[in-house]
Amino acid sequence: MNESKIYVSKDAKEFHIMGKDFSYVFYILKNGQLGHLYYGKRLNPSNIYSQKAYYETYGNTCTVFENDESFSLDIIPQEYPSYGTSDYRQPAIEVIQEDGSHITDFKYDSYTIYEGKKQLYKLPSTFVHKDKDSITLEIKLKDYIINATLILSYTLFKESDVLVRSSKIINNGNKDLQIKRLLSMSIDFKSSNYEMLTLTGSWTRERHIQTYPLHKGLQSTSSTRGTSSTAFNPFFALKDNLANEHTGEVYGFNLIYSGNHIGQVEVDTFLQARVQQGINYFNFSFLLKKGDELESPESILVYSCNGLNKMSQKFHKFYLNHLIPPKWANCARPILVNNWEATYFDFNEDKILELAGLSKKIGAELFVLDDGWFGKRNNDKTSLGDWYCNLDKIPSGLKGLSEKICNMGLDFGIWIEPEMISKESELFKKYPNWVLQFKNRKLTTGRNQYVLDLSNPAVVKHIYETISDLIIKTEYISYIKWDFNRTLTEVGSLSFEPKHQQEIAHRYVMGMYELYSLLTKKFPHILIEGCAAGGGRFDSGILAYSPQIWTSDNTDAIERLKIQYGTSICYPISSMGAHVSTTPNHQLNRLTSLKTRGDVAVFGVLGYELDLTSLPDSELECIKKQIKWYKEHRKLILEGTFYRLKSPFDGVNGNTAWSVVSEDKNNALVGYYKVLENTTHLPPNLKIYGLKPDKIYHLIGTNLTFDGLELENLGIEINSNLLSKLALIEDFKGDFKSIILEFKAK
Ligand code: DGJ
Repeated sequence: MNESKIYVSKDAKEFHIMGKDFSYVFYILKNGQLGHLYYGKRLNPSNIYSQKAYYETYGNTCTVFENDESFSLDIIPQEYPSYGTSDYRQPAIEVIQEDGSHITDFKYDSYTIYEGKKQLYKLPSTFVHKDKDSITLEIKLKDYIINATLILSYTLFKESDVLVRSSKIINNGNKDLQIKRLLSMSIDFKSSNYEMLTLTGSWTRERHIQTYPLHKGLQSTSSTRGTSSTAFNPFFALKDNLANEHTGEVYGFNLIYSGNHIGQVEVDTFLQARVQQGINYFNFSFLLKKGDELESPESILVYSCNGLNKMSQKFHKFYLNHLIPPKWANCARPILVNNWEATYFDFNEDKILELAGLSKKIGAELFVLDDGWFGKRNNDKTSLGDWYCNLDKIPSGLKGLSEKICNMGLDFGIWIEPEMISKESELFKKYPNWVLQFKNRKLTTGRNQYVLDLSNPAVVKHIYETISDLIIKTEYISYIKWDFNRTLTEVGSLSFEPKHQQEIAHRYVMGMYELYSLLTKKFPHILIEGCAAGGGRFDSGILAYSPQIWTSDNTDAIERLKIQYGTSICYPISSMGAHVSTTPNHQLNRLTSLKTRGDVAVFGVLGYELDLTSLPDSELECIKKQIKWYKEHRKLILEGTFYRLKSPFDGVNGNTAWSVVSEDKNNALVGYYKVLENTTHLPPNLKIYGLKPDKIYHLIGTNLTFDGLELENLGIEINSNLLSKLALIEDFKGDFKSIILEFKAK
């Protein structure tokens, strides 16, 4: 097997990070800055590549040395560039100094290599289980004029074949430094012959896949909303023009950050591509006094020479092994019933107990009481911040109710939205200054609520104590749905001086992580499901605390195909909350069968969110069977390798397929979804990837067998013969139909 290692040339001028599949090479340029040489398919370890790097002379460029016309930063691929001394492309760092200059010149100082990896100080980070599983290279650079140190960190996770980058700046001088930009990573590719893939969307249309060829100039995916957002996820990929799900070169980049982010590619006039990712520099500035430092979030770099599926699988496994809390990463997450779409705000204790009783009957394991249980919350205009039980609705109180539910043999979970405050609340009356704001500006509402100022440690402390108190007093809480229903406006804090106001968006995110960290440390047994008006904060920062995230408020099974398919580009299916809701669907009024709704939701963390009390016995029976089936297959679904087989974004009818394959490749489940019926042509054979070529697989429920090679190359025909063997002929007629095929090695 290819050995993963970091090679440093004898003269300590070239650094070659070598994963199982990739090489990443950079070196020290003759002006002392860092040059980027290569990121791509693995190279030989023995070569010194930078010795062969050659720079052409181009007219009309500015050069660093008077006697060397070829050494222009305008053209030379760099590792962590800055603006102001002949490079006119986007910088990775920008520092405003007291004299008004923003020029930096960070020159190589030294390097260190060690086994293991350091954690970031105030931001979530990836971790290792054993130091020897990873190796870290730290490059120290110094700018002697401004007296600052820059540290670039590269951790190679050997088994996962993933590279993690981050950067840190330290002010060693007596003068203040305003950090305007400190990106997590920057890479200059010699070619721009790639397509950019981003995950874009809106409320109820999260993480749809968008792909476009790179063009000259700047292209980006970013957020200014204070949160990672539904609009543009902090993930993007570059793929070669011929790459697809199964073949071709793909580079994936994901930022472990839940606030304003940017991923950008600048194709320069020489058709080189500068690829960068980090905290969005728009409206950002961070003041560093003597001795202060600022760290960037981690950027996760994944290379695949086997298409998008391989890239996604590397991200999935990596997050499960090195980001998501180990207690939750690979465990059977409870099947839940949530009362939101069953009742919205209109419930009382009897209704909840009735729902819980039926939840137990159908085999669910956890009952979640959603929004509306606290303060005077009978609609969304009031009470956020007043986290005590509404006894008019729940006379037994939260403790009494949860005890009753637990006595039924269910776990109990609760909804909170800790970062928010209603104008109409006791908390707002008491602490109007605790809201994000600028004194002279009107406060903007979103869903009738304001955002608490989490940049202020006193606010974080208050929320922490209030929620801790709630958990302790209720006793039976084992799950929390942590919601966040609006984006940030008037991002200012009354607890900071004006010169710090551009730090607030970032300080907010750090405060939110602090809150998550305090609560998860104090209550490690509580499973937290992240949520933000659906999947508005579905990012790897949240996954560091919360192994599952509510994927979307859109519970329509057909819409979910695109949402879950797109989300799987970067995030494991075990991180996606996926619920069966009622029909007609509340968001779209679309009618789909219980089977189709179930067949989509089982490829995620399964839940039910509909009024069980209004269902006929036949449907309850059907749900019971779905749950039983899920329990039998849950390990395979949540821990298996996920493959996207057919994209809802391609073709005319949106038909979709995906699969999970067990680690030993003996078991596979394939979900096939026919979105629109057609009368004119048979769908092409469905090719099933990831099985052992020479193994014989039995299609459960039939007498059919296939070998792995056949399944991958010839594929399987979803025809009436197959459907009749599975007794699904009638079920599969018309629009919005689905089947799940189960293969077992003989
Ligand atoms: C938005 C969430 O996404 C929903 O599931 C639900 O919890 C509501 N908020 C409650 O206000």
